[in-house]
Amino acid sequence: MSTSEPKSISILGLGQMGHAIASNFVSRGFKTFVWNRTPSKGADLVEQGAIQSSSSTECIRSSPLSILCVNTDDIVLDILAAAGDISGHTIVNIVNGSPQQVRKTAEKSISHYMADGYLHGSVMASPGLVRSGGAMTIFAGSSETFKKWELTLQPLGITLWLLDDVGAAPLYDCSLLSILSGIFSGFMQALAMIGAAGHSETEFARGFVVPLLGQMEEWLIRTAEEVQNKEYVAEKNGSPIEVQLDSTKHIFETAKELGVSSRLLQGFLDIVKEGVERGQGREEISGLVRLLRAPE
Ligand SMILES: NC(=O)c1ccc[n+]([C@@H]2O[C@H](COP(=O)([O-])OP(=O)(O)OC[C@H]3O[C@@H](n4cnc5c(N)ncnc54)[C@H](OP(=O)(O)O)[C@@H]3O)[C@@H](O)[C@H]2O)c1
Repeated sequence: MSTSEPKSISILGLGQMGHAIASNFVSRGFKTFVWNRTPSKGADLVEQGAIQSSSSTECIRSSPLSILCVNTDDIVLDILAAAGDISGHTIVNIVNGSPQQVRKTAEKSISHYMADGYLHGSVMASPGLVRSGGAMTIFAGSSETFKKWELTLQPLGITLWLLDDVGAAPLYDCSLLSILSGIFSGFMQALAMIGAAGHSETEFARGFVVPLLGQMEEWLIRTAEEVQNKEYVAEKNGSPIEVQLDSTKHIFETAKELGVSSRLLQGFLDIVKEGVERGQGREEISGLVRLLRAPE
């Protein structure tokens, strides 16, 4: 960290995520001001060296950079309204939301409350990973503001900046979360079947799931290229929608034999069937995107 940058930071909201973030800054030697509606949640941080502010306004005013980590943007705006003019203070909001909502909060923070810089941060990790410093956070907002605070924000782990449009961060956040939803849906289905058949869930994960996911890199990039280029038929790769329909039906049959529900995968089965019914059976899996978007 260069000497011109402050080593102090304010963290408002000490729930699971805010506490993990604050503990990270404290352990890296920052003068860390903390505030939480329920003050007792900051007691252990104070023992580690954090300074507990008596109000949210005092916390924001104690350092030039504040990270807000509460449940909703309405609470963020209440905190900023109570603080009044916050010119000279930069706000980093890590409350999840939709792109439109995030843009509205950013606009209000700057125009009503005069925040001196505003970033939206989407933390792509669990509090545990944040605590250990291995998390990834995607930022959007003014590039100048990000450059100014990039080094200060390093205790968060990997920090990536996207675009001036703050709405880009929740867009990428939700898109990445949708990948995790898909992985978790399939993983829960798999564990339910493996365990119901009397096999070790842990050995299955270690020996089979991890190597399978390791093979995905080339496939993911190729699929994204097919979507971007609108070239959905790729005979050589040979994983067309009609084959996906057969393999998804096999999953349902296997689950039924084991007395396991397949309802997590019902949406996938439905859309694969729809693809075949609409004559897209020879298209790669990338062709399913055509069924999700509004017709061009
Ligand atoms: N946990 C995760 O895995 C994760 C991952 C990525 C992003 N995030 C995002 O991080 C944000 C916080 O999540 P979290 O897991 O830390 O939630 P949490 O554990 O439920 O904590 C919520 C925080 O909001 C505060 N709060 C709630 N209502 C309030 C009010 N009316 N006035 C002032 N403070 C209020 C709570 O204060 P009290 O302690 O007084 O109740 C607490 O500090 C959310 O936007 C979430 O989407 C979380």
